[in-house]
Amino acid sequence: MKLKRTHLCGSLRTKHLGEEVTLSGWVLRRRDHGGVIFIDLRDRSGIVQVVFEPTTAPEAHELAHRLKPEYVLAVKGRVRRRPEGMENPKIPTGEIEVEAHALEILNTSKTPPFPLDEEVQVSEALRLRYRYLDLRRPGGLEPFILRHKVAQAAREFLNRKGFLEIETPFLTKSTPEGARDYLVPSRLYPGKFYALPQSPQLFKQILMVAGVERYYQIVRCFRDEDLRADRQPEFTQLDLEMSFVDEEDVMSLVEGLVGHLFKEALGVELERPFPRLSYEEALARFGTDRPDLRFGMELAEVSEIFRGTSFKVFAQVLEKGGIIKGLCAPSDFSRKELDELTAFVGEYGAKGLAWIKVREEGFQSPIVKFFSEETLAKLREIFRPEPGSTLFFVADAPEVVNEALAELRRELARRLGLIPEGLFRFCWIVDFPLVEWDEEEGRFVAVHHPFTSPKEEDLELLEEAPERVRSRAYDLVLNGVEIGGGSIRIHRKEVQERVFRLLKISEEEAREKFGFLLEALEYGAPPHGGLALGFDRLVMLMAGRHSIREVIAFPKTQRAQCLLTGAPAPVTMEQLLELHLLPGWEKE
Ligand code: AMO
Ligand code: AMP
Repeated sequence: MKLKRTHLCGSLRTKHLGEEVTLSGWVLRRRDHGGVIFIDLRDRSGIVQVVFEPTTAPEAHELAHRLKPEYVLAVKGRVRRRPEGMENPKIPTGEIEVEAHALEILNTSKTPPFPLDEEVQVSEALRLRYRYLDLRRPGGLEPFILRHKVAQAAREFLNRKGFLEIETPFLTKSTPEGARDYLVPSRLYPGKFYALPQSPQLFKQILMVAGVERYYQIVRCFRDEDLRADRQPEFTQLDLEMSFVDEEDVMSLVEGLVGHLFKEALGVELERPFPRLSYEEALARFGTDRPDLRFGMELAEVSEIFRGTSFKVFAQVLEKGGIIKGLCAPSDFSRKELDELTAFVGEYGAKGLAWIKVREEGFQSPIVKFFSEETLAKLREIFRPEPGSTLFFVADAPEVVNEALAELRRELARRLGLIPEGLFRFCWIVDFPLVEWDEEEGRFVAVHHPFTSPKEEDLELLEEAPERVRSRAYDLVLNGVEIGGGSIRIHRKEVQERVFRLLKISEEEAREKFGFLLEALEYGAPPHGGLALGFDRLVMLMAGRHSIREVIAFPKTQRAQCLLTGAPAPVTMEQLLELHLLPGWEKE
């Protein structure tokens, strides 16, 4: 490399006029215009136009004929103003161009499988297969620049608050977050496995017993679960834990942290404190414990209003102990749209979607004939519908009603364009139940994890009415996405034993699974608690993206494959033998 870079492509402005600069980067486009060759040269900072003229630099101009997209160059030249009328207001360097004097081709490139212009739509599979080209596209690195800023700002904030960044192992034992583990076979111990951590939960608690007092880590977690747009098999947590604290301390620290991140990385000032909703209230008003507060259309329960009406569908559901809830959408819908919405809630188990159109002259629906004037008046009172809006109802078991209407609410907001751009609405969800009944397993299971502390005042209910015990857990929700969760932990052995008994985790099982933590808790464990932010989800929302794959450099597909490397991939017979994974190894 003879020509050494002096400036970045995207940094050049009119203040550089007349300067001799050396740039390096990639060819985005080449255009030949009657003997003059224009190159859009790209580096991480942006794009600049370089002009090769046969008169000013015959040698460089001659060489420039060979340039193709994605060739790697070093160019020396003079910054000059673009001719009148040739400015490009779409790019920051649009007022200037570089008149090339010398060109060095540092590398050639095969023709990329897709053009790297930002306008071109490319399938995600192809983008992931050639992720390096995808990231090289203009703007491709933007989410990662943001991600970097957020990580740095987090470290800066937590360092200032006296937190220590401490790493915890990846080759470890199964942790209690409740997903399936990724296992790593042991070569030295036939038939034994390490588990990749689903979170550093147990280790961070042990660090509290070790006297660390304030811990954090930006850490990878591994969960073998069904994937969605906001779930990856390996993802990153901003994980923290504190000693001698209660819920208020953790929540206020996290609000300060998140406020700092938004301010530093986005220049956005968040309104604080974040509102809090109890789990019960969130479910009642939004049908979900991750409500999107950016728009209205809250749900209302109308079981009592419809009790005793002659509409069979509703009567039967109520008889069986089900409920009816509804919402009011500020729009009219065509027959076709109503059918689509009915099919939509069907995906969440709803057997139908009743609707009533609100007109100046009154309610209109095939089912209004079943309802008395009094019933209709009550609906008016609850939903206060404007003429032109539509009421929707689902009748079913509470879980089905809530899920179907929560999803319908989101879908309607999307369809009706009710979601404002660039708005960040946070809330805490608190007062979660400690446990829920698991029909399949025939036992109570922890809503968070088995180390979550019950509320002191609910302890007496632990044995008689476990479903009424509330936990000291809190979730952080942003724009309808759960971006964090945590709790105050159990630090006394006696309470931990009662919770294990409730969860039907035998003493033996507890000792085998997390004996090391239980033992540690017996050596002067301080009261402690913490939280983990889903770092990818947070950055996704900050970047205004819709999938966490867009903020992960090398993400896996929905089917947990890495299209770049081809993982998961077969291994050799020798490796399997060495790991004792071939049939018959037990006999050795
Ligand atoms: P939890 O299991 O709630 O808590 O995880 C914390 C946060 O991590 C994010 N998250 C994920 N992000 C992407 N892909 C996934 N598969 C995925 N799973 C979870 C979510 C979630 O809120 N040890 C506890 C924390 C604690 O109690 O301190 C824990 O892991 O945003
Ligand atoms: P049907 O009597 O089955 O023709 O239903 C009349 C209307 O009630 C239709 O619009 C159905 O979509 C709706 N409906 C049916 N079952 C339910 C339900 N469980 N909850 C809400 N609406 C329903």
